[in-house]
Amino acid sequence: MTETYEPKIIAFVCNWCTYLGADLAGTNRLEYPTNIRIIRLPCTGRIDFNLIIKAFEVGADAVLVSGCHPGDCHYNAGNYHARRRWILFRELIDTIGIDMERIHFSWISAAEGKKFQEFITEIVDKTKQLGPYQDYKTVCHT
Ligand code: FES
Repeated sequence: MTETYEPKIIAFVCNWCTYLGADLAGTNRLEYPTNIRIIRLPCTGRIDFNLIIKAFEVGADAVLVSGCHPGDCHYNAGNYHARRRWILFRELIDTIGIDMERIHFSWISAAEGKKFQEFITEIVDKTKQLGPYQDYKTVCHT
């Protein structure tokens, strides 16, 4: 019997938009892969570099950060702060050797259950193609 690889995706989602989008996908019975583990944040403005690195350290094969569309943040500018940090994170993450294809950022509103379903399916398919994540410390030191 061959075991199929099932990646683990950790999704840091904003409580007010993407979390409700995921909930809407569920109540509309839209099926999506079960590979995702959702961590609800009050706002994407709460995301920081250490959370992303920690996710990989505890076994994630990919990470998603998703929240309200620009202009819709319930704390006014949290998603703009997240987007600015994202630009810095990208460089840091790239510098330490984590494949940027394993990290995703999106805006998904409470009304976009379908978009949530499609995006999660896309991330899981892409991560399956990449294969399991290899710890950047191992990769850097071999
Ligand atoms: Fe959703 Fe700020 S409340 S991104």
